Amino acid sequence: MTTSTPWDRGPVTAGPAWQALAAHAREVGGETIRGLFAADHGRTSRMTIEAAGVHADLSKHRATERTLRLLVALAEERGLPDRIDAMVSGARINTTENRSVLHTALRAPRGASLVVDGEDVVEEVHASLDRMSAFAERVRGDEWRGSTGRPIRAVVNIGIGGSDLGPVMSYRALRHLSRRDMVFRFVSNVDGTDIAEATFDLDPAETLFIVSSKTFTTQETMTNAHTARSWLRSGLGPDADVAKHFVAVSTNAVEVEAFGIDPAAMFGFWEWVGGRYSMDSAIGLSLMLAIGPAGFRDLLAGFHAMDEHLRRTDLDANLPVLMGLLGVWYRGFFGAQTHVVLPYDQYLERFPAYLQQLTMESNGKSVRLDGGPVDVDTSAVWWGEPGTNGQHSFFQLLHQGTALVPADFIFFAQPVNDVGDHHDKLISNVLAQAHVLAYGRTADELRAEGVPEHLLAHKVMPGNRPSTTLMLDRLTPHALGSLVALYEHVVLTQGVVWGVNSFDQWGVELGKVMAGRLLPALQADDVPDLSGVDASTASLALRYRALRGR
Ligand code: F6P
Repeated sequence: MTTSTPWDRGPVTAGPAWQALAAHAREVGGETIRGLFAADHGRTSRMTIEAAGVHADLSKHRATERTLRLLVALAEERGLPDRIDAMVSGARINTTENRSVLHTALRAPRGASLVVDGEDVVEEVHASLDRMSAFAERVRGDEWRGSTGRPIRAVVNIGIGGSDLGPVMSYRALRHLSRRDMVFRFVSNVDGTDIAEATFDLDPAETLFIVSSKTFTTQETMTNAHTARSWLRSGLGPDADVAKHFVAVSTNAVEVEAFGIDPAAMFGFWEWVGGRYSMDSAIGLSLMLAIGPAGFRDLLAGFHAMDEHLRRTDLDANLPVLMGLLGVWYRGFFGAQTHVVLPYDQYLERFPAYLQQLTMESNGKSVRLDGGPVDVDTSAVWWGEPGTNGQHSFFQLLHQGTALVPADFIFFAQPVNDVGDHHDKLISNVLAQAHVLAYGRTADELRAEGVPEHLLAHKVMPGNRPSTTLMLDRLTPHALGSLVALYEHVVLTQGVVWGVNSFDQWGVELGKVMAGRLLPALQADDVPDLSGVDASTASLALRYRALRGR
């Protein structure tokens, strides 16, 4: 059954814009990136965009200016401008959960105002930031001390999904700005190895746990939080005041209190912040402890700058919109199954993992807002690794494999660690890879280089493989904020075109329910109840029990 919402646009293929793109794809399908450059010397300058400190070169795409115009027409037909307005003004565009989607309010400047349901959400955001800042200063200034009076030297964030990936990605990205006399660890997996390894060399007297969970009911996080409390008690003695070693970040004050954390040690946020859009809320507390409140505010300013670009720039010059639309183009008309993100910066080692949740939990959907089936392929599989490491593993497939994999290259002009000529070498590699993907190497060129005939077919590089290059000046909190907001808005653009709700995640629920049913069967002392479980799963569960001596 379908239910209508104000934002429904029906099946995307039914509209004239998709049909026009399909016809255009047939026309330009045979064109090569080489050919497009040869035919148009001004292509790079016209297809380069500056947005919030991001210099983006979109010219190495299998797209002409007409392609971009047709894609923009598609975005208009699907109602993207209205949806951007609806989102930033607090309309309940997350229709299946009846929630606003207001992560842009998390970085609105102090003094701005946005009243939703009678509350000024920007005022609340800044009140929360002020509390976080005061706390961070106390910990960083050795005023907040552990139960034995020792200052905090280790911070462990316990969370999973959006309550982990944002904190760990951003900490790793900005650790050059962090307090180097403190350690920061991130525990997410319910596998006991994660917390065991994160704590094995820590001194409980100097350790602060941040339990980060929007719901405060997530199995992995609550299990790790209980284990952390036992670890503290066994290290500090049963009478220790463990409250000095725990704070919570959550929207669920009731569960936080039930766990035993004083609401005064809880940093709240709001149901209108989705988990994967939350790293700039109180969920970023561990990052703020690492880089300080001023650094965190610089991060928020970077997010806000990209939000402003999204809101105030025409679609045909709007970076997140064009990047999102190019993704739709390759997914819809070139059969691209995956999209690779290649940061040429070791500090961005967790950025691809962060983007995996952002993109795939948002747009890995097959049902439209109105409940009808989507009629085109939705989210690509996103993946990636920092360069240059990837060059020595999977780049072979990018260059000569049978799959078309659009790529995003990301790098910073200024090195954080200016060691010898490492940085120039790094940048020569990123530029080389994007060039070679686009241009390849023909048999004639190889022949002219003296490559023997029997190797020609093996050495031909087909080229014509599209990429976006994003260059930023320096890896600052501001730059990171702009980059993350850029991809948030890529996701919004794609979700609107495909017609899905990018802000729910119903597909993750059933697995949680099933694990909840299987756990007692794995742990039962007597005959396990495996009724309702398929034969394969039941057999594996029984074998597991036998191996565990149960
Ligand atoms: O299971 C998926 C999910 O709900 C994500 O969307 C979320 O980021 C993660 O779990 C963690 O949820 P919470 O912050 O409520 O613990």
